[in-house]
Amino acid sequence: MNGDGRDGRMEPSIRRIFAEIPHTYEIVNHILTLGLDILWRRNAVRMAVQVGGNRWVDVCSGTGETAAYLKRSAPSGTGVYAVDFVRPMLDRIRQKPGGDGVTPVLSDIKGLPFPDDTFDLVTISFATRNINLSESVLIHSFREFRRVLKPGGMFLNLETSQPPSPLVRWLFHLYVRLFVRAVGRVISGSTIAYAYLAATIPRFYGAEELTGILEEAGFVDVGFRRMTFGAVAAHIGWKRRENG
Ligand SMILES: C[S@@+](CC[C@H](N)C(=O)[O-])C[C@H]1O[C@@H](n2cnc3c(N)ncnc32)[C@H](O)[C@@H]1O
Repeated sequence: MNGDGRDGRMEPSIRRIFAEIPHTYEIVNHILTLGLDILWRRNAVRMAVQVGGNRWVDVCSGTGETAAYLKRSAPSGTGVYAVDFVRPMLDRIRQKPGGDGVTPVLSDIKGLPFPDDTFDLVTISFATRNINLSESVLIHSFREFRRVLKPGGMFLNLETSQPPSPLVRWLFHLYVRLFVRAVGRVISGSTIAYAYLAATIPRFYGAEELTGILEEAGFVDVGFRRMTFGAVAAHIGWKRRENG
């Protein structure tokens, strides 16, 4: 066990969780989201690619769904990197269209192996919850992402969120409680992975709260776009230009 949760509870080992599920990770995502994860990712990548530049990194990249998508959407010559600390997840990137053009990097995101001001774009999808739910740990990690961004570079965070309507939020949490743990366990064979997912989704931040955390970490002009009644949100924040 390691890491404090948002309410002080201890989280199971994230490395252990993700080492158990690489083979079924994508199919479970598609089933549990009724295929909407593809749409959410596509929307987020469209928002991200506007930044241009020539070096992009997707952190907590897992099996590289977003990284491979970025590579396919990138102007030729753009270097795309994928960082994760679980090798069996990263190993799957090469099997995807575009994946063989992505450079995998085995590392904990809490200390990225890149110099300051390296990337035009840093993305993270469906993993911020896994870093830790505590605000101080998130701020520390976001500052590390900001460190490796060039001045004027963009950070994009795609994650589950809290629907603003109380009724929709209640229905969303009910769906998570009833289906995520059970369906995930049956398909993946992992008892802890989807219990963890089901436990963390209702406890994660709403879009406005996450905006505040990103600003606290030093990002400027932070904005967000809600998707599917606010069950998911894509946030964008910028590293201030030196003269800006
Ligand atoms: C839910 S998966 C998301 C994968 C991918 N981004 C996606 O959209 O499908 C979370 C990933 O984050 C990785 N991860 C969690 N904490 C990490 C950390 N501190 N450093 C590196 N990777 C981490 C896990 O190994 C896992 O592959």
